[in-house]
Amino acid sequence: MPRTDSAHISPSAHYTGYVWYRHQLSNPAFVTDFGRFAHVVLSPITWAARRFDIDLERLLLQRHLLIDALLTEAIEQRGVTQVVEIACGLSPRGQRFRQRYPQLHYVEADLPPMAARKRRLLASQGWLGEQHQVQAVDILAADGECSLAALFARLDPAQPVLVITEGLVNYFELGVIEGFWARLAEQLKGFVQGSYLTDLYPDLQEHPSYRQLRWGVGLVGLLTRGKYPLHYRDQAAIEAGFARCGFRQVAVLDPHEESLRRQLPRGRLPGLVRVIDARV
Ligand SMILES: C[S@@+](CC[C@H](N)C(=O)[O-])C[C@H]1O[C@@H](n2cnc3c(N)ncnc32)[C@H](O)[C@@H]1O
Repeated sequence: MPRTDSAHISPSAHYTGYVWYRHQLSNPAFVTDFGRFAHVVLSPITWAARRFDIDLERLLLQRHLLIDALLTEAIEQRGVTQVVEIACGLSPRGQRFRQRYPQLHYVEADLPPMAARKRRLLASQGWLGEQHQVQAVDILAADGECSLAALFARLDPAQPVLVITEGLVNYFELGVIEGFWARLAEQLKGFVQGSYLTDLYPDLQEHPSYRQLRWGVGLVGLLTRGKYPLHYRDQAAIEAGFARCGFRQVAVLDPHEESLRRQLPRGRLPGLVRVIDARV
């Protein structure tokens, strides 16, 4: 039976929250003692991984900045006015985009304890308001007050909506996360325009660093007391998977290939992460 509870994942948000801060994407308000501590404790491992051409922070930054670039395009070129960031953790993206685009309606969502923490954080800085809210959600809940249906019921179906998940989907077995994607696609179809951005770590067995990647995901699983399964073997399998879940148009982007065009951090080897831009 695949594991379906997911509170064990939440501590990882403190680590990534600290990484965004270290790279000047964030504000000290988003930093926690645990995030700083985890960064120090893990630094010998991330240093060693760099010797094998796996740079964890660059990987995180590549996905974060590519999602930022695609979100910017969606707002400026497709008129997106509503953003829902599920599994927001301690990410500063909502605050950064609200500052840049004051007309944006930004809803951050996470499991109830993390949502409560984020709500307190934003409120303490005076950032919470009508246009910037935090809601509790559990992507595994089929109904009830933490379900996707309850989250989307608060939005305007006559306005375009874009959903983001970052650092979430590989913590779940494929069948479980495809169930979430199918429920998400159903919700998005209720809007005049619905799109979804997510990072995804595929099972790229031909990649020159595949063996090191397997050690890395084993370690992430150990640290978060769960598993970190890699999803789909290649681009065609990703496209077919998202189509099965109800997405009509799917673009699979490699931050390594996008790096020159979009001025993203670039590594020596092809990327291990993909960013998916899926539309209903
Ligand atoms: C690795 S963190 C990523 C946080 C943030 N997106 C970032 O990139 O910094 C994973 C996040 O997923 C959230 N999460 C775990 N299970 C969830 C679920 N069932 N529904 C919604 N969010 C969940 C955790 O609470 C945590 O904030």
